Amino acid sequence: MKNVSIDTITQAFVDYCADDTDPRTMFVLTKLVEHLHAFAKETQLTHAEWARGLKFMTDAGKITDDERNEFVLISDVTGLSSLVDMIGSQHDGTSSSVLGPFHSVGAPELPVGGDLKKDNDGATVLVEGVVRDTYGNPIEGAMIELWQTAENGLYYSQDGNQGDFNLCCSMKTGADGRYAMTTVKPAPYKVPDDGPVGELFRATGRTPWRPSHLHFIVQSEGYRSLVTEVFANDDPYLDSDAVFGVREDLIMDYVETHDLDALPNDLEIGCNATLPYFKVDFDFVLVTENT
Ligand code: BEZ
Ligand code: FE
Repeated sequence: MKNVSIDTITQAFVDYCADDTDPRTMFVLTKLVEHLHAFAKETQLTHAEWARGLKFMTDAGKITDDERNEFVLISDVTGLSSLVDMIGSQHDGTSSSVLGPFHSVGAPELPVGGDLKKDNDGATVLVEGVVRDTYGNPIEGAMIELWQTAENGLYYSQDGNQGDFNLCCSMKTGADGRYAMTTVKPAPYKVPDDGPVGELFRATGRTPWRPSHLHFIVQSEGYRSLVTEVFANDDPYLDSDAVFGVREDLIMDYVETHDLDALPNDLEIGCNATLPYFKVDFDFVLVTENT
């Protein structure tokens, strides 16, 4: 095209692509460019504004390394990660939520009833429930992974004072599909805001805080893997989660209790919970792989 204009440039992009481009690649890229062009036209984007956008992305590249990926964080805090997740997981099972950057492979396996709190400070939480299929049948041998922050709002990988895999475990459900562990009540924490994403928060008056949560991955053969989080219903940040991870069915009552007799009798800590302790009952529902 020898005379590209505001009205023809989007079609020119399509025309310049080879006819044998993979159809899905072509579709996604064409839509991306269409929306980018529409964005520039709708906002009447200036050179200065676009230069600012390019600097933002360049800065994100500079701060990204093997330990920290600012582009993933940009995707998280703009809601794109959660949107992609929700598009791919419309079904009757437990809602999925963001994985986040603090999952570690290889956490030690605890038996059902095992204790993850050990000598961590904070209130004891008993988390228990059943992994089920969408008909309500318990799933035996499902593998659960749990990871969370300590009371100071830090994951072990962010905090030199915590041992490796502190507050991380895996657990296999018993014949009744049940899992149970004692742990510590997690705390709210801020996503990293010392880079370009922090500038985005400050420019928009948003909070970098996430509501306190327990991260879970639940897997069983023949079922879709579930990556999710469980939130406390009294958390002040439920309505402003920096990464848009909160879903109604993932908000739980952390029931405060003093009743040691209400503890199940298969807990590693026996009846030695510090009082008051909290109880979270949460069943996971997995959907079959082909749904
Ligand atoms: C997290 O929950 O650990 C997390 C999720 C997204 C971005 C940063 C942290
Ligand atoms: Fe987290």
